[in-house]
Amino acid sequence: MTVGPHPLPWPDDPRLDPELLAEGDTRNVEDRFRYWRREAIIAELDSTRHPVHIAIENFQHDFNIGSVVRTANAFNVAAVHIVGRRRWNRRGAMVTDRYQHVEHHSDPAGLLDLGLPIIGIDNIEGSTAIERRVLPRACVLLFGQEGPGLSDESLDLCQEVLHITQYGSTRSINAGAAAAIAMYAWALQHL
Ligand SMILES: C[S@@+](CC[C@H](N)C(=O)[O-])C[C@H]1O[C@@H](n2cnc3c(N)ncnc32)[C@H](O)[C@@H]1O
Repeated sequence: MTVGPHPLPWPDDPRLDPELLAEGDTRNVEDRFRYWRREAIIAELDSTRHPVHIAIENFQHDFNIGSVVRTANAFNVAAVHIVGRRRWNRRGAMVTDRYQHVEHHSDPAGLLDLGLPIIGIDNIEGSTAIERRVLPRACVLLFGQEGPGLSDESLDLCQEVLHITQYGSTRSINAGAAAAIAMYAWALQHL
């Protein structure tokens, strides 16, 4: 629900943005953040971010990345890491990338700098069902892209690879859906 101009007198709160108070707030934010300055929202999210990182390969302009960023914001993850091309289609992010730390790495090895276990999420031979594993609380969940899935270079970095069990005929679900399920699985275990 969007809100119109705030009735006078305005609350005395430095987190509030005078322009939004005057004009109204139509942004895609939770009601508790209505009229807040962007920096104040980021600071609040930063104070409660979870230690799980989300990484996705982007060597071929993966159209799922916007949706991954939006879900990552909803789960308040530490950061989203885009591996490969810097450019990605922001449409699906619904402006959530403004509140989410998004970092770029030219190749998967850049993820090692995080010093965290890297868990590949893909339905490849030899992978284990995510439903059967306790995910590390602090970790990187790494997703592949439409078509090739996780690259060999990424797979080499992974402590293990987990799949989401499927029951139909499709070979796979899209990376955006897989990321949402994996983040939910992490949240069920740790939040
Ligand atoms: C559309 S899939 C392509 C690759 C897939 N391995 C295949 O055989 O077709 C793109 C990405 O979505 C994620 N994904 C799709 N389905 C998945 C599943 N059932 N379990 C885990 N990840 C999945 C993975 O990160 C994968 O790299």
